[in-house]
Amino acid sequence: PVGERVKDLLSRMTLEEKVGQMTQAERSALRSQDDISTYALGSLLSGGGSAPTPNNPQGWARMVNSYQLRAQQTRLQVPLLYGADAVHGHNNLHGATIMPHNIGLGATRDPALVQRTGEVTARETRATGVAWTFAPCLCVVRDDRWGRSYESFGEDPALVESMETVIQGLQGRVDGRDLADGDRVLATAKHYVGDGGTVYGSSTTGSYTIDQGVTTVTRDVLRRVHLAPYAEAVRRGVGTVMPSFSSVDLTDDGKGPVKMHGNDELINGELKGRMGFPGLVVSDWQGIDQLPGDYPSDVRTSINAGLDMIMVPDAYQEFVRTLLDEVRAGRVDEARIDDAVSRILRTKFQLGLFEKPYADTTHADTIGSAQHRAVARQAVAGSQVLLKNRGGLLPLPADSKVYLAGSNADDLGNQAGGWTVTWQGGSGRTTVGTTIREGIHQVAPRASVTYSKDASAPTRGHDVGVVVVGETPYAEGIGDVGNEHDMWLGKADQRAVDTVCGAMKCVVLVVSGRPQLLGDQLRSIDALVASWLPGTEGAGVADVLFGRRPFTGRNPVSWPRTIDQQPINVGDERYDPEFPYGWGLTTEHQVRAALSQAGVGRRALAVRDWDRHPRQVFRSLWRAAAILQHTPHSWRERNAVVGAARHLAQRAVVAHDAQSATAKLTADAEHRLLTGDVVGAVSLLAEAHRTAVG
Ligand code: IFM
Repeated sequence: PVGERVKDLLSRMTLEEKVGQMTQAERSALRSQDDISTYALGSLLSGGGSAPTPNNPQGWARMVNSYQLRAQQTRLQVPLLYGADAVHGHNNLHGATIMPHNIGLGATRDPALVQRTGEVTARETRATGVAWTFAPCLCVVRDDRWGRSYESFGEDPALVESMETVIQGLQGRVDGRDLADGDRVLATAKHYVGDGGTVYGSSTTGSYTIDQGVTTVTRDVLRRVHLAPYAEAVRRGVGTVMPSFSSVDLTDDGKGPVKMHGNDELINGELKGRMGFPGLVVSDWQGIDQLPGDYPSDVRTSINAGLDMIMVPDAYQEFVRTLLDEVRAGRVDEARIDDAVSRILRTKFQLGLFEKPYADTTHADTIGSAQHRAVARQAVAGSQVLLKNRGGLLPLPADSKVYLAGSNADDLGNQAGGWTVTWQGGSGRTTVGTTIREGIHQVAPRASVTYSKDASAPTRGHDVGVVVVGETPYAEGIGDVGNEHDMWLGKADQRAVDTVCGAMKCVVLVVSGRPQLLGDQLRSIDALVASWLPGTEGAGVADVLFGRRPFTGRNPVSWPRTIDQQPINVGDERYDPEFPYGWGLTTEHQVRAALSQAGVGRRALAVRDWDRHPRQVFRSLWRAAAILQHTPHSWRERNAVVGAARHLAQRAVVAHDAQSATAKLTADAEHRLLTGDVVGAVSLLAEAHRTAVG
């Protein structure tokens, strides 16, 4: 049994060996590989861009194995735990399958599919010897100006919780029994806690920041909004938790902001105590350095607050020395050290690293395979949200004459998003995949496509303009790069939209990244698709544009009208966004199919004219909802029934221009669906319909 093995090994360890286990260095910061054995290091990571040469699966496996070999030369031969940011795919690996970012996965509302994306990432990552990913991000994004909002599944904790199936995709079964398999990795719930709730403009450096800022909330809001996804992650057996760089300021305790890296109450008290988290807590990159006080104080405060392993990442010698001093001086209890090391060793045993320290490349040939890319493509298609569709312009006929333009139509780097090889600064086209432009060629070979990146005025002879624009992926840190403060489309992108709208009768606008403010341009375009950051499979976007797959995605965040509305979220009292949380248009054909799938088909279809007899349709949907409410595991059917109600409501809202009057009802209905109140969701949508038609 693991418990006994941990106890036995711990009893044979010196204090130096224990402190070594708690130390995580960045692999390229090692002064010499000998340091792995000299300091008996517990872990190494590849930080952003820290890939081997050649950057291929064999290169990775060789690199990790060479470090493991050093660990095998230590007295007790404790294997290394090797970690990387496989955030939405094995990002640092050339040729890996890159999934949509969490924001897009949240839009799919498809827990089973999201679990499969986790499985693909796990297989591709473990096959290179990396047993640990610093994902998923469980932030609940409350203000889209935050630089890392794309790493959130959405603004609603219930949505974030429902997407945590990704943990099972990465780790396998809840009890951790699958972790030793060659196709699973240890997951990390991050950044604990409240990273998505920091308040805009709270920087101490003078410039606006939202990343690494302060989350100012009552204890109740902290619990309901930000802690809830962690309680779910612990239930799902997540192996690691990483604290946030940010601080939490609980307004009802008057203590002021407390940095999460030294937050005893929330790490020892809440996470390890109340939630009973049995895994290990790993710091963020130099996260302890941000604590007030000198280095010894940073070290003791963080370890005493419950951190088990510190990502140093190059100051490993100083860290080891300091922690040893702190323990010897009695400022850190050796029992605390034993607890931390027990958690680390238990994790290593669970991962099977003592038996198999070296990379198991059995699944290496699946990296970037057609099967894996098919999963990613399905996730891309499922994540696209149809926000506007005047005159039913979408889907486009297969033989359309398309004028394709815009900065993100043929840019794999931007499309793939953050943390990728390209984003890390790899030169040229280092991420492997299909751009949206290439995807259109694949999906609609009969369509004729004229492409212009900068949207020079289109010539005649096209049926439709498709403009793909949006922000370049942004980053952590101060967070004031690019245009995330004003949320407007960039100037060049605005010009592209104007040029194409000026020359063409029908225009589809595809926006990538966060919600962007469109102003009057929103009235000029006919169709609007939110694409988020789709990853390497651009064909998934083409699939929905040309009707090869239906639009099923729904807003994971509220799409604001103006910057002053930020932060704007479901449940707000005064709620008047451009497109509410949960908004996402569908076609009638889809709804009919969904209705029959939900078993209410015949009833609803018997009502020939939905617009003339909406009450009957809603009544039958309500009845179906009442049955499903008490039917466990019926999320597909629930989605179908609520989807039909949403379709009818949204259609009426658009026809009667009743967005403002109904936004709150639509958004609240979405939240109800996620919390299992199917009847409530249908009732709210019926009310939205009634309100719209007057
Ligand atoms: O995992 C990341 C974290 O999300 C941000 N700081 C760096 C870590 C390791 O790369």
